[in-house]
Amino acid sequence: MDIKNSVIIVTGASAGIGEATVRLLAEMGANVVITARRADRLAQLVDSLAGLPGRRLAVAGDIRENAFAKELVARAVAEFGRVDVLVNNAGLGQRIFLSEMAPEDVTTLLDTNVNGLIWATQAVLPHMKKQGSGQIINISSIVGQRPLALSGLYCASKTAVNFISRALRMELQHSSITVTLVYPGRTLTEFGTARLGGKGDNPSPIGRASAEKVAKSIARAIRYHRIEVYVTWYDWLFTHINRLFPRSIDWILGKAARFA
Ligand SMILES: NC(=O)c1ccc[n+]([C@@H]2O[C@H](COP(=O)([O-])OP(=O)(O)OC[C@H]3O[C@@H](n4cnc5c(N)ncnc54)[C@H](OP(=O)(O)O)[C@@H]3O)[C@@H](O)[C@H]2O)c1
Repeated sequence: MDIKNSVIIVTGASAGIGEATVRLLAEMGANVVITARRADRLAQLVDSLAGLPGRRLAVAGDIRENAFAKELVARAVAEFGRVDVLVNNAGLGQRIFLSEMAPEDVTTLLDTNVNGLIWATQAVLPHMKKQGSGQIINISSIVGQRPLALSGLYCASKTAVNFISRALRMELQHSSITVTLVYPGRTLTEFGTARLGGKGDNPSPIGRASAEKVAKSIARAIRYHRIEVYVTWYDWLFTHINRLFPRSIDWILGKAARFA
């Protein structure tokens, strides 16, 4: 798909992967609808993109709210007349033992990572069906394919994203709407400070990719209608080694978490 002049909604656009994706898509000439809760960050992002081709529309709100997701898509359609791509990127991490998680934190994590993605998808689909085309890009994680200690619920939320996306892909296979899963590994963003529980970096022998690298993978997924996207070769390798030796990897990662 030609990104120039297309209309793309990016959730979680106030930081990290979402922000880098918006910058790249704007440079490529897309009209981008940006959303997150922090209105000031969105306004700064819009200002910093002045002079680039295409237009930007900032709609601040909480993606956990079904009514907000409907409003977001309605504003995008009112402004641009269509939505070509929805990037479901907003997300929240966890670094806390499951046994210690407060009930409201469990709800917050699932509402953000799973329900928010469902609300935005449900809001955009009728428009894409009417247009006869569209792409929904769901930002998962390599840990949606294998759990980590201290992040069990987060990993499960990404597994839910994987299964929801694949089921939706089957439901839409007779339409021209594509459902894409992107699997970033460790990425340098605000994720570690925003997450529930312990802040900071997780000890790991694997390096972190930049948010810009993930953004490039997302742009390529749009350009070439890719449906399954790994950002780095070592994420791909890790995922496939894990499939061969799941119990050994459990043991190694469990040991690493105990000494963190
Ligand atoms: N960083 C990594 O290592 C990594 C690895 C694999 C996958 N991922 C996934 O990549 C995606 C982006 O993460 P990131 O690393 O860029 O994290 P980040 O820097 O913390 O950005 C998260 C974004 O989500 C938004 N957000 C969070 N809760 C929200 C809510 N209730 N309503 C609306 N927006 C909300 C935040 O904006 P506001 O706070 O302004 O609302 C922010 O813009 C997430 O889905 C994450 O799970 C990240």
